[in-house]
Formats: sequence, C-alpha cells, structure tokens
Amino acid sequence: MPRTLTPFMSINVDQIRKDFPILERETANGRRVIYLDSTATSHKPLEVIDAMNDYYRRSNANIHRGVHTLAEEATALYENARERIARFINAASFREVVYTRNTTESINLVAYSWARANLKSGDLVILTEMEHHSNLVPWHMLQMERGIELEFIPVTDEGLLDLDAYKSLLGRNPKLVSFTHMSNVLGTINPAAEIIHLAHSAGALTLVDGAQSVPHLSVDVQALDADFYAFSAHKMCGPTGIGVLYGKSALLEGMPPFLGGGDMIKEVKLRSFRANTLPHKFEAGTPAIAEAVGFGAAVDYLTKVGMDDIAAHEHGITEYALERLEEVPGVKVFGPPAEKKGGVTAFTLAGVHPHDVAQILDQDGIAVRAGHHCAQPLHEKFGIPATSRASFYLYSTKEEVDLLIKGLYKVKEIFG
Ligand code: ALA
Repeated sequence: MPRTLTPFMSINVDQIRKDFPILERETANGRRVIYLDSTATSHKPLEVIDAMNDYYRRSNANIHRGVHTLAEEATALYENARERIARFINAASFREVVYTRNTTESINLVAYSWARANLKSGDLVILTEMEHHSNLVPWHMLQMERGIELEFIPVTDEGLLDLDAYKSLLGRNPKLVSFTHMSNVLGTINPAAEIIHLAHSAGALTLVDGAQSVPHLSVDVQALDADFYAFSAHKMCGPTGIGVLYGKSALLEGMPPFLGGGDMIKEVKLRSFRANTLPHKFEAGTPAIAEAVGFGAAVDYLTKVGMDDIAAHEHGITEYALERLEEVPGVKVFGPPAEKKGGVTAFTLAGVHPHDVAQILDQDGIAVRAGHHCAQPLHEKFGIPATSRASFYLYSTKEEVDLLIKGLYKVKEIFG
C-alpha cells in the first residue's frame, strides 16, 4: 500500500493526516484503512481526543451546580465551547446555540416544541424528496398525531431540487419548510439562502438539516437567515453524543421546553415550574460535558485548517472521483456534477449488490457505506433499493480514490 500521499489542492493533506491517529491503523489482514465513510461519521484529530482526555483527567465535575473549583472549571469549559460553536456558524449569540444529542434530536426538538405549539390539523409542512429519515419521521409522527399535511419538493433526475415545483407549493400557505442543506446520498448542495428567502416571502419558517453542510462548508446562519439549523459534532471531527439546534432567539424564547428536569428550570414548586433562560431552557439533565469540550476543540481545529480550504479540497477530490468512477464500466453515479455537490458520491455497479461491493472493498481495507443511507424514499425515487457510497473529508486523498477504483475492478472480476 502506498504510504506517500500527494498534497492535493488547497490543504496539506500529508500534514493533516498526521493529526488523525486512526488513519495509521491497519485491518486484520494488514491493510491500511482507506476510510471513505466520513458522511456516516468523521475521524477525530488528536486535538479533540486530547481535549476530552484532559477534561476527564483534570476538570471532571458536573456543570451549573457547584461552586467548587472543578465545577466552575467544567462549567466554563462547557459554556466556552458553546461560544466558539456560536462563532463558527456566526450565530448572533451563544443563547441561540442549544446543545442536543445530535441532528436527529435537534429536529425532534423543533417538532415537539415549536411544531406542537404552533401547528394544527391541515397546516402544511414542506419537506423534500431527498431528506434523511431524521427529517421525515418526526413529521410523519406529527401528521399521525395532529393531522398536519406534508408536501415534498421533488428531486430531478440530476439530483437537484425542483425549485419551480417548490414555488408552486409555497402558494399553499405552508407554515414550515424543512430541508437538508446537503444531501447525505447525492451530495447535492441545495441553494439554502434562496429556499429560505422564498419560504419567508410565503410566510413560512425554515428548519435546515445541516448535518452534512456544517462539517464541509462555511455556514453562516445569519447570512442564510435560517430560523432553525441543526447539526452534529461527530460528522465534523468532534465526538458522538452531542449536536446543536441553532434557533433565532425570538423563536426559542416563545417555545415551550422540550424535556423537563434539572438545569432547564429557574424555579420548581410542587405543582409548577418556571423555565430557565436560553439556551438552558432546552437542556434538561446532566449534559454531554466532555463531548461539548471535544466539540469546541473540533471547531477550533476546523477553523485552524480553514473551512473554505476544506471545501476546496473536497471539491477537488470529488471532481477526480467522479471522473474516475465514470471510467469503470457498469458504474452509475447518482447526483449532480461536482460543482453542485459536496464530497459524497453514491453509486451502483451493474449486476452486483451494493453490500457485496462494500464487502469486497473491505477485504482491501476500503470502507464505504452500502444501503439506503437512511434515505429510503430517495432511493425509491431512483428505483433502486440501495447504493454504495464513498464520502470524503479533509484527510481524503487522490490515492484513496485510485484504490477505490482498483477495488471496483476487483469486484467486477470476482462477479464476472
Ligand atoms: N446520516 C449518516 C449517513 O448518512 C449516518 O451515513
């Protein structure tokens, strides 16, 4: 296996790869891991691992509860991370950054708190055909409970949202438009600012699933004018178990709490309670403290490398991967051309089930995801049950793409 990696485009990948110890490991059969599954979860740099390790070694305590040194230190680390995350997405205030478990919980928070307080039978929520299950099922549940209506912006054969169809749907007085900024299957980067502007002109609020966009693009929630924006730490070099719901403070202020318990209250009587101020109103119980510390370290790391440079690097890798995949007879790539997508590429290989593709690639240490990628309706739209998916991040290299292509030829050989 080649050990020398060519620096590609805008960042020094050789240098960056040294920050990720896992990239050095080998599989049981002595192959270096070729990790092309960062859309499922990204690897973690030493800065993040060390920050969490240091937290447990030096500062472990519960937050917002004690006056002792460790409790104050833990609280400061937890809150300071929130401020850096707020700056990372350009939120107007840390009060607009609510810690959750992940993107899924952030979307559910909006569905349980804002939507149940504001939507009634017959109210329309617009989604898209390219949503992850996490931005479908909470709305299905509300439809069953409340009788809200759901409509979907169609996806074109090229893998783009049909904005003319969207404009027609807006004529039906929707209350909310909830959509993914970047598809976890097609890689499509949706024109979020335009979608939000059009929704606002029609009097609807917007919720953006940013699970794939925040890790890979420079996202400015104020410039987008998003009302709610959800994302997870683990896809952006941070730990699992923590995510964010960004919400405009005026909206969050007006929403009832989501989960009840400690920390989300100002005062509790036997028969009543007063909710805490933002953002704590939505953070019941002991939160993921070490994970918040790791999340803060992750945004520092990404900021240091530079989000625009990361996006440019991934664009280069994606362009190259698309070119090379097209060369392989029987490969069909889904989604738009490189200029309209991020570093995610779903594909099929004629006559071979995507799970078999993934399994044979794995024999050479190549990690891709196979299945419906939590986007079953999108796969149905394209008339297929599953795809294989290669996804890239700041540590991905051209050589890894070459190994993927070599692996696909091997799959073809095995399947005749
Ligand atoms: N949403 C993640 C993925 O697409 C888990 O793989």
